[in-house]
Amino acid sequence: MENLKQLVGIKAAEFVTDGMIVGLGTGSTAAFFVEALGRRVKEEGLDIVAVTTSHRTADQAKALGIPLKSIDDVTHVDVTVDGADEVDDDLNGIKGGGAALLMEKIVASYTKHYIWIVDESKLSEKLGSFKVPVEVIPYGIKQLFRQFEKAGFKPTYRYDENGELLVTDMKHHIIDLHIDVIHEPEKLGKLLDETVGVVEHGLFNDMVDTVIVGSSKGVSIIEKKK
Ligand code: 5RP
Repeated sequence: MENLKQLVGIKAAEFVTDGMIVGLGTGSTAAFFVEALGRRVKEEGLDIVAVTTSHRTADQAKALGIPLKSIDDVTHVDVTVDGADEVDDDLNGIKGGGAALLMEKIVASYTKHYIWIVDESKLSEKLGSFKVPVEVIPYGIKQLFRQFEKAGFKPTYRYDENGELLVTDMKHHIIDLHIDVIHEPEKLGKLLDETVGVVEHGLFNDMVDTVIVGSSKGVSIIEKKK
């Protein structure tokens, strides 16, 4: 699986050209893309500026010598490459397994060409085999949890390695929803958008343009139907 992630990471780096503002995703697959991009910057003198979607990715990019800017200091992002936890047949997806969904969605929303890189295990006909991460503010978190329980979403709190409630880069917590099959991702996304206390959720509906998939047969590219 690791070499499939590396394969798609290297492939995605080919989509970057001189002068671009590039969004750098978060996670083990995105890290291979950042590594490949760093190599191109160093070896080919690729002239880019990047914005990052987590402190982790920012640290990696800095170490590789990739020039960075804040999302507030760019007019747009030309291309963003990120991983995903699950992708359905309509190219809706679930992200946030690595707890970076808020920054990832902000960067994605200013992006012209949004690309996901995944191995084939992430593809499914309908979303729901992966939990839906929901980033929430700490105030009233237990009320929100009970609300999700009542809605039948089987929520669980996300904890860190010390057994404390996980704190995201943006200082929120994560509640994961365990919904077996999501028949209407747009409806669920809208409901979460309208829920007080929810900062953002990991349903990325109708956002991605291109999905690069790694499998034992090689790399394939799925484009969103226009
Ligand atoms: C982080 C994410 C990641 O992109 C997603 O969890 C996939 O990660 P990985 O490439 O490690 O499987 O959304 O918030």
